[in-house]
Amino acid sequence: MDNAAREQLIEMARHNIGHAQNGTIEHEADVFRVPAANYFDEQRFKLEIDKIFKRLPLVLAATAELREPGDYKAMDVVGMPVLLTRGSDGEVRAFINSCSHRGAPVVTSGSGKAKRFVCGYHAWTFDQKGKLVAIASKDDFGSIDMSAHGLVPLPITERSGLIWVILDPDSKLDMDAFLSGYDKLLGAFGLENWHLFEARTLKGPNWKIAYDGYLDLYQLPVLHRETFGEQMSNQALYYAWGPHQRVTSPSKQLLDLLDIPEEKWSRDILSAGVWTIFPHISIASFRGGGRSIMLSQLFPGETPGESYTTQIYLMEKEPDEAQRHDAYKQFKLLEYVVQEEDYATGLRQQRALEAGARKEVLFGRNEGGGHRFHRWVERIIATPDDELTALFQAGTP
Ligand code: FES
Repeated sequence: MDNAAREQLIEMARHNIGHAQNGTIEHEADVFRVPAANYFDEQRFKLEIDKIFKRLPLVLAATAELREPGDYKAMDVVGMPVLLTRGSDGEVRAFINSCSHRGAPVVTSGSGKAKRFVCGYHAWTFDQKGKLVAIASKDDFGSIDMSAHGLVPLPITERSGLIWVILDPDSKLDMDAFLSGYDKLLGAFGLENWHLFEARTLKGPNWKIAYDGYLDLYQLPVLHRETFGEQMSNQALYYAWGPHQRVTSPSKQLLDLLDIPEEKWSRDILSAGVWTIFPHISIASFRGGGRSIMLSQLFPGETPGESYTTQIYLMEKEPDEAQRHDAYKQFKLLEYVVQEEDYATGLRQQRALEAGARKEVLFGRNEGGGHRFHRWVERIIATPDDELTALFQAGTP
């Protein structure tokens, strides 16, 4: 973590301590209202896929998933087949996973290690850089310029142990403008060298209902009272970098820091809370099996009322047997909390909204994260391609 990032984290910690000492909290000017139809309307859903998920950088993997040269990961992202590879030069690359012969995915979903990718349809072969290196029965096929028939590369950047990809190969969006410096703060976790423990995918409600939950501390002592939330504060403090937000709370435990010199404030304390990456990631820290995070990677499903979340559990150190046991227990609890508490409630909320139960939903004055999230969604879908970079440079929706 660089010094400027650490200084920003210390500043936020001091700000949180101030609220904890004074018993104060921050409020938006007013209650915010979102039309209920935004969560189920088909046209709106399509617009969000096209204007958000198909135009903005998405975190498709953690570095830990593609650590070694030759590692690959194939996945479907809002219907687009994508292949990520780590070349022998150490570079990570992304391609549309569609063969230049007749378009079949070259690699079926999943991850592994490979030097070459052989299409399962007629055996055209591509290397880790997406270059077409062999055509089966070449003499019978006929002559084509092989150098012009590689896999289509996608814009990609790897920072702070995370890999962002834009699904539009012709995107002109400036990644730095989109990230708004947030990637440097995420460097506080040091994820570059962490290890993949386990991953699984859960089904949930509309992607925005799920995302609302990641920004919501108001729910903690209520929805999560039987698992972890009973004693927790329901008040939130939000910090925003462009559309990306960190959520913390003015916890009384922060007052313990007053007895420790600032230069000794640990990375754990400084990176506490939930870190969301617009439009589809949340990162929360845990101690199960040692220092660990759960990276929740959320994607819209095939209809407005469904989404899929891949929970990726990363650990700072390779766990031994006992730590594996603890990590597994922690990960199991998180599955229960998200599936049976968050998403079970979200799916019931989804059904009620789809039934026309409400015209709008509300976000209170201490739910500023929801205000900002929905404002950004609204603003982005209304912004033409050639104005997107300027929108993120401006920093506010
Ligand atoms: S579609 Fe890939 S080799 Fe024919």
